[in-house]
Amino acid sequence: MGTEQILKEIREFPITTPAEIEEFRLSFLSKKGKVATLFAGMGKLPPEQRADFGKQANEVKQVAQQKFESARDAIEQGKSAFASVRDDISLQAPRQQLGSLHPLTQTLDEIKNVFFRLGFSIAFGPELEDDFHNFSALNFPPEHPARDMQDTFYVRKDDEDPRKDLLLRTHTSPVQIRKMLEQKPPVRSIMPGRVYRNEAVTAKSYFLFHQVEALYVDKNVTFAELKDTLIILAEMIFEKELKYRMRPSFFPFTEPSLEMDIWNPVKNQWLEILGAGMVHPNVLRSVNLDPEEYTGFALGMGIERIAKLRYEIGDIRTFYENDVRFLDQFV
Ligand code: DAH
Repeated sequence: MGTEQILKEIREFPITTPAEIEEFRLSFLSKKGKVATLFAGMGKLPPEQRADFGKQANEVKQVAQQKFESARDAIEQGKSAFASVRDDISLQAPRQQLGSLHPLTQTLDEIKNVFFRLGFSIAFGPELEDDFHNFSALNFPPEHPARDMQDTFYVRKDDEDPRKDLLLRTHTSPVQIRKMLEQKPPVRSIMPGRVYRNEAVTAKSYFLFHQVEALYVDKNVTFAELKDTLIILAEMIFEKELKYRMRPSFFPFTEPSLEMDIWNPVKNQWLEILGAGMVHPNVLRSVNLDPEEYTGFALGMGIERIAKLRYEIGDIRTFYENDVRFLDQFV
């Protein structure tokens, strides 16, 4: 057998187990192996060919030796990585630090689930809004204090023509307007998202927070349906029988309007969880719907407020600090 042929066999010989290493050694490197046979045959060659042949045979021997050694080392290392006598394979693996959903996301998910079960779809709107969607179409009179520079972050303020104002939306209600302009009733959607208000940062307020809006517009939508929806919603997100009350309230875009409180037995006080009402006829008119033909209800709630109640969190700022010691509690 020539040196080329043996080299080929060496290269193609698979070694993955200790048994194969031994097979390899016997086949090539032992006293009666193929490498030894090569050298043994050298004596039969004419003297002038011997030097050349010897060189080639030496190369073959080296290749075989190297393959044998590196295979042996690899298998020995592999073995000790898995189970040497010093390893305790029954040891618990270190805990993987997995991420988890933010408590605000978890709270929103719960709210979504309630509304999805009631047949609502989901809709989104831009955070950069104009005066029409954020205020005018929602029946805010021009002199309404909520339009004030104090509450609203204006991106563009046009003193002559407020219709050109651009602002960061102060609530998710403008998505109601977008939704109704885009889709004829029946409309039954929730609209979650981030909202902005120019407020001081304290334990109770932040310049940015999250709301979910719900809107149901169709023929013959009644206040009784609104009330029923609110009760189902509150009972499902707080996962227990609740003591609640609904107080008459005021919003420009609903008439009548109400606010819903739930009783907190720990603090011994009522806590407001949302605002709601029947969509104001002017709002329906602003999106070209006839209030004689259609009625609707709307509600809006702050996600932080709900999350604070559900998880008994005192300071709204903890939601945005992303301190792992805080987030770790919501895995
Ligand atoms: N947009 C109101 C706010 O930001 C919340 C609200 C109240 C939304 C009543 C509604 C509603 O849809 O009917 O305070």
